[in-house]
Amino acid sequence: MALDQTAIRKDFPILSRQIDGKPLVYLDSGNTSQKPQRVIDAMSHFQEHTYAPINRSSYRLAAEATDGYEKGRVAVARLINAPSVDEVVFTKNATESINLIAQAWGRANLGEGDIVVLTEMEHHANIVPWQMLVQERKIQIRWVPLTADGQLDLTNLDNLLDGAKVFSFTAMSNVLGTITPIAMLCERAKAAGALSIVDACQFVPHNVTDVQSWGADLVVFSSHKMCGPSGMGMLWGRMEILDAMPPFLGGGNMIDTVTFDGFTTAPVPMKFEAGTPPIIEAVGLAAAVDYLEEIGMANIRQHEMELTRYTLDTLKSRFGDDIKIYGPDNVEERGGIFSFAFRNIHPHDISQILDERNVCVRAGHHCAKPLMKTLGVNATTRASIYLYNDTADIDALADGLDNATDIFGL
Ligand code: ALA
Repeated sequence: MALDQTAIRKDFPILSRQIDGKPLVYLDSGNTSQKPQRVIDAMSHFQEHTYAPINRSSYRLAAEATDGYEKGRVAVARLINAPSVDEVVFTKNATESINLIAQAWGRANLGEGDIVVLTEMEHHANIVPWQMLVQERKIQIRWVPLTADGQLDLTNLDNLLDGAKVFSFTAMSNVLGTITPIAMLCERAKAAGALSIVDACQFVPHNVTDVQSWGADLVVFSSHKMCGPSGMGMLWGRMEILDAMPPFLGGGNMIDTVTFDGFTTAPVPMKFEAGTPPIIEAVGLAAAVDYLEEIGMANIRQHEMELTRYTLDTLKSRFGDDIKIYGPDNVEERGGIFSFAFRNIHPHDISQILDERNVCVRAGHHCAKPLMKTLGVNATTRASIYLYNDTADIDALADGLDNATDIFGL
């Protein structure tokens, strides 16, 4: 394996927890990731020594706190190779980042009959904000369909993009694990005159990310899936787009001046950061990025490709036709997310039986109900890996599935 698993697992205190005397097998990182000690310590240390309001007060402690918050922005810009630190906006989560785009850019630029192109593998966070504009603005949504192995079917992409104003798509499916051809999709959007928006929530934590080489216009992702704290999302965008957008939320911090007659906005990124932002979380996020960079995003990707191969081979060799794993088989084209159907046992039953062995997986529609319809199911069981998982975790998953078989007498 590409990573020193014994050392990495020690960095995550929760992984040494036992429940009922049995170790934790955490296979739900697609949902949210665990936190290394370094992130926990950075946030505690900041609260013990430095915490204060940011951007408002002139005393030294507040200046130090502001520096701490801004270090989070610097770290994120470096991680994704943003041309400017000021192009990184902090939000509450990636869902809010997409709502920000739909509400701020969408309300200013979309009207009746305008077309937004999405794919059938989108998370609700990249569907509902646009459907809200269908209701409010009478825009239209077109859908890029999928192939049988869970990739985007791009046969008619140019037709779908013809006349479109927006193409918003996932970089990696939270259900299928499929990694989409991001740079090519951004290029096709650009050629059609559409804004490209990339939902990179599942991609950034696991891969080398270069928003410049993607040629994207706007990219969203979240802290809690990449070893950082919850309560914090990111929006990166090209400055000319962010600069031209009206604000989303109004209040303190986002203004230049306010009179009885109106207001003017602060420059980007503060224009989009109304109110007290997630200060402590930004400090934790900076520590998370430092941690990931020290291990190396390319090494993390390599490790996950190896573990993905191991997972697919193990589950298929042990269960044959009794398991159906959705998404591509080629590990170059997918990340470590494994949604599956198993022997007609309901995903919630599987999840509950796995939980008896402390194997944590997600069961349900994974906030992707339209995709469930395309797959012809109501729900799947989903295991998802990160840098701290190893082959023993996958073996525990497979043993747990054997146990489910025994319990149901199949
Ligand atoms: N989007 C997250 C998931 O897929 C919450 O579990």
